[in-house]
Amino acid sequence: MNGSRRPKAEPALSGGAQKAPLRSLLIFCLLCLPLPGMAQQAAVVSAHPLATEAGVLVLQAGGNAFDAAVAVSAALAVVEPYSSGLGGGGFWLLHRARDGYQVMIDGRERAPLAAGADMYLDEHGQVTPGASIDGPLAAGIPGEPAALAHIARHYGRLPLEVSLAPAIILARDGFPVDPVYRRMARLREAPLRADPAAAAQFLPGGEIPAEGDILTQADLADTLTAIAQRGARAFYRGEIAARLVDAVRAKGGIWSERDLHDYAVVERTPIVTHFHGYRVVGAALPSSGGILLAQMLTMLADWPLDALGPVDRVHLLVEVMRRAYADRARYLGDSDQVHVPLAHLLSPGYAIRLARQIDLQHATPSAGSSVAVGEGRDTTHFSILDREGNRVAATLSINYPFGSGFVASGTGVLLNDEMDDFSLKPGVANAYGLVGSGANAIAPGKRMLSSMSPTFAERADRIVILGTPGGSRIISMVLLGLLDGLDGSPAAEIVARGRFHHQYLPDRIEVEPGALSEEVLSGLQRRGHTIRRLEEPYGNMQLIVWDLGDDRVTTASDPRGIGSGRVFGAARPAKPASP
Ligand code: DON
Repeated sequence: MNGSRRPKAEPALSGGAQKAPLRSLLIFCLLCLPLPGMAQQAAVVSAHPLATEAGVLVLQAGGNAFDAAVAVSAALAVVEPYSSGLGGGGFWLLHRARDGYQVMIDGRERAPLAAGADMYLDEHGQVTPGASIDGPLAAGIPGEPAALAHIARHYGRLPLEVSLAPAIILARDGFPVDPVYRRMARLREAPLRADPAAAAQFLPGGEIPAEGDILTQADLADTLTAIAQRGARAFYRGEIAARLVDAVRAKGGIWSERDLHDYAVVERTPIVTHFHGYRVVGAALPSSGGILLAQMLTMLADWPLDALGPVDRVHLLVEVMRRAYADRARYLGDSDQVHVPLAHLLSPGYAIRLARQIDLQHATPSAGSSVAVGEGRDTTHFSILDREGNRVAATLSINYPFGSGFVASGTGVLLNDEMDDFSLKPGVANAYGLVGSGANAIAPGKRMLSSMSPTFAERADRIVILGTPGGSRIISMVLLGLLDGLDGSPAAEIVARGRFHHQYLPDRIEVEPGALSEEVLSGLQRRGHTIRRLEEPYGNMQLIVWDLGDDRVTTASDPRGIGSGRVFGAARPAKPASP
């Protein structure tokens, strides 16, 4: 039975009242002996302490960063069901230390083969409110199960049965409900209530569970177990696939068994750019993140950022964001299906031309009108470094909190509502206020454009691994985090710093509470900017900094969330100071 509720107890992975899971974990740890000769420290940081612990366990059991990434992704699917999961997708940016190979595993959802450009428009050509957000018609074909199996097979060294074990235990034995779960469930209570399977799983007894109640997800444990035993085919073919398709179609969705059968992850070459001595490795299409970061960093390269006063600096960053996000809206979409002028967009000459148009005294108005922007509250990021130097930055999503709010009965799989990331109609904004063009229009089998931006920054003396959720604001957050990280700021400061954002349309700067002083805000207004003061903070950055000189690894989990980081293994003794 799904969603059973028990009174408050210790988290499943920490022992305490949960002896059985601890025993199972000890057994599987003992079966996998740690490899010798690991000199460096390893680190895991994620948005949930139990997911971090799952990654640490798998590393300690002899897994590498890629096995740990499988473990953390799957654990997040259980303990952060509002953010990501088997019914969603994501991007896993990998660095393999042995040969320096870097790749982005694209496990992004695809539009079903029966999808069409106007599937969310009514008979008057207007977007039907909610149709791309709630219920199974909003769901793209999930990519996460295929991505996890792919990562385990091609990059990991442990079988899926081991790397998925922590998630299976967390789903079967349960985890304690936290305040974020409750807040997200409140936000999405209506769609969750509307679907009996989702209500049974996430609102046991018909209520949002109390803090500390143990939430079990037996159907999800079974689905994870099937994947652990038989790999991705257990999800994309056979009984589970049939259940997914039947459930979706019974409630007005358009999935077919062929959609699941045909789903394939794609290995993409990351977008690399150079900035102030760093090599910045970003996400490739269908994420817009790497391209926008490359454009923004290239536009900024020749400005003496450190020498600018605070108003000039924010103004410059905003103008750079505006220009890059304008290109997102105009040109970007799934490059497997549409032509994207990538060489042009990434050419330094183009970025320099854009940068020259920036007027340091005046805001450049964005063309077009203002639209409402939803707050990004869900999605998730984690970062991992193992003692061999393998790295993972991964951002995963089911889009809105609790995705479409629809669980395919008997599978425990909560479906995404990532279809809303397409441009539903040219010029009409999506949930994050993003507009798009034909490049991101819906088409059968197409991947919807994303902002998710798992990123590495590398220099001989420092490596930064970062990313965050936050919808359209992900890319500007990663830009600000990178600039701080490249400056040498400590990890904890980078994730804590106040944030501001501009995305071309709506034409305004969104500012976190307290991020900019009144003086800076009025300076910006005098230059023609409109300011929107946000009532709540945003983002949930999970960051690792590896200072190579003294082999010191630090993690930082955004204070806006409940995540945690762990560093373990002996650091090399610091070099004696020279006389
Ligand atoms: O792929 C994207 O860009 C969005 N689906 C991400 C959504 C997100 O980050 C929500 N919020 N925090």
